[in-house]
Amino acid sequence: MQKYCNTVNESIKKEGITTVIYVMPNGENSKTFDETIKITNFLAQNNINRNDVVIALGGGVVGDITGFATGIYKRGMTFIQVPTTLMAMVDASIGGKTAINIDMGKNLVGVFHQPKFVFCDTDIIDKLPQDIFCEGITEVIKYGILEKNNIITKLLENNVNIYDIITECIRIKAKYVECDEFDVGVRQKLNFGHTIAHSIEQFTNHSISHGKAVGIGLVYETLFAEKYFGLDNSISSTVIKTLQKYNIDYSLQKICEKKDINTLIDFMGNDKKNNDSNITFVLPKEIGNTDIYKIPVDTVCKILSEIV
Ligand code: GLY
Repeated sequence: MQKYCNTVNESIKKEGITTVIYVMPNGENSKTFDETIKITNFLAQNNINRNDVVIALGGGVVGDITGFATGIYKRGMTFIQVPTTLMAMVDASIGGKTAINIDMGKNLVGVFHQPKFVFCDTDIIDKLPQDIFCEGITEVIKYGILEKNNIITKLLENNVNIYDIITECIRIKAKYVECDEFDVGVRQKLNFGHTIAHSIEQFTNHSISHGKAVGIGLVYETLFAEKYFGLDNSISSTVIKTLQKYNIDYSLQKICEKKDINTLIDFMGNDKKNNDSNITFVLPKEIGNTDIYKIPVDTVCKILSEIV
């Protein structure tokens, strides 16, 4: 968010700290090796060393690539996350996952590199464009299903207290990261909605944003659970009701048809969470209770054909 750059830069300079600024192109398609090279060249050209600090000021894309570039530049240097979107505040900026995309899949190249700290200025939430706000709401809904809490109730209230909601989401995310920093166990539950979401993002070459894709993923992975182990429809109704309140479109049929299911599954198969011929899904059993399932590709294909 270039509009916050001057404000942040001026406050830092007032403390007598010298700054240099790198502005990168917007959007998920900028999370590339080429862009990483440009950032690391910029750091080197400006003699940035490990005593310096890089601030990732922006949304999830800026945080992901800055975390990656600073994780490999000089074998790792300090960076700070200053998220400027709701999605980055409640999810992407926390936990040290950094990555870029390659042709074979989203976030397939990256390192775990923790920011020194995350600074959220929640006053900017009111000024966010509606679509950017809604993209964060989908991650917020995810936290409302993952754990027993009152996030969904709060989201459905007339006067939403977004500050309280952000605080609760960060508390939940931090708990998962503390238990499993390197994503080999329970942290994978944060991927509820994301198996389908990542495949939609790749299927549409990122013309559907991460947040919108997560909204669709939450609905269709819950419908998937209904077919896979007979989950009742109370969770899908809750998710749909909440998405509707924020006018978030969750129709997968607008994006793809039955004939595209194999392509979606190919993208799921390339996801870093998957191995062999199984696809990993995080499915809800009740609010506050999800599990990780490794599901054979032909079962995934059969169930998706019933719900798409
Ligand atoms: N966004 C999911 C995670 O950080 O694990």
